[in-house]
Amino acid sequence: MSYLEAAERIAREAGIMIKSKLGTDFVTEEKSSAFDVVTEIDRASEQLIRERLAEVFPDHAFLGEEESFANEELLENRLERAKSEPFIWIVDPIDGTSNYVQGIPGFTVSIALACNGEIMVGVIYDPSRDDMYSAEKGKGATLNGKPIRVSQVETLGQSVVATGFPSKKKTRDAVMTSLQEIGPQCRTIRALGSAAQHLAFVASGKLAAFWEYGLNAWDIAAGVLIIEEAGGTVTDTLGNPYSLTVKHIVGTNGHIHDAMMQTLKPLGI
Ligand code: IPD
Ligand code: CA
Ligand code: CA
Ligand code: CA
Repeated sequence: MSYLEAAERIAREAGIMIKSKLGTDFVTEEKSSAFDVVTEIDRASEQLIRERLAEVFPDHAFLGEEESFANEELLENRLERAKSEPFIWIVDPIDGTSNYVQGIPGFTVSIALACNGEIMVGVIYDPSRDDMYSAEKGKGATLNGKPIRVSQVETLGQSVVATGFPSKKKTRDAVMTSLQEIGPQCRTIRALGSAAQHLAFVASGKLAAFWEYGLNAWDIAAGVLIIEEAGGTVTDTLGNPYSLTVKHIVGTNGHIHDAMMQTLKPLGI
């Protein structure tokens, strides 16, 4: 089985499990604050994905959100080390837990394979719509097996863009500041609740751009590859290339990347 086939199969299995538990009486806890929740289904999904990957690729490393690093420094060190792992699977078992808890469609499963820091495979599965976004390095991006491309929109004024609201004060403040700047310039803004889904929507031309501060590799690694393989551009919010330690991200159709950067870069975040 190829890496991509395994990632798709496992993302689908996890997504179906998550969907089957929607609306049931699952345990929900606050993690770092009232703004940051986790459910027993997040943990069950991560365990399922971890076990399935270990069955197929016993020698590969694994990094999942629900390992829950004790502090930022430990996470930073882990991600730094991940850059030299020959094979590491980076997994968000439910991206959009707040959507999931509220019963709002649009939560996703995100699985990426990085080899020495380079993302080789990315899949984002949306079980509410049964949509599978996938990409393999150098081989293009697909939605349910059909090739996808970013949008052709060339101005911010014609662009529908998206952002998200991180749980930590500093990064949420950064989003609020940037919204003040981007808001007046674009056609309209969405915050649909899953960073991975936003990136998949940029890759498939539904959105022209997505930016957010304070994300982690599990939120974005798969989506970064899917956008790049669909012809788009991804950098950090200061314009530097993506790497596994990037937290502040801008993914666009390419055409409006400079316009986004002209607004975001001067904020210096
Ligand atoms: C969150 C979602 C959300 C984004 C937050 C993330 P989680 O991930 O991607 O859209 O705004 O910053 O933390 O916790 O639901 O996996
Ligand atoms: Ca979370
Ligand atoms: Ca996430
Ligand atoms: Ca998550």
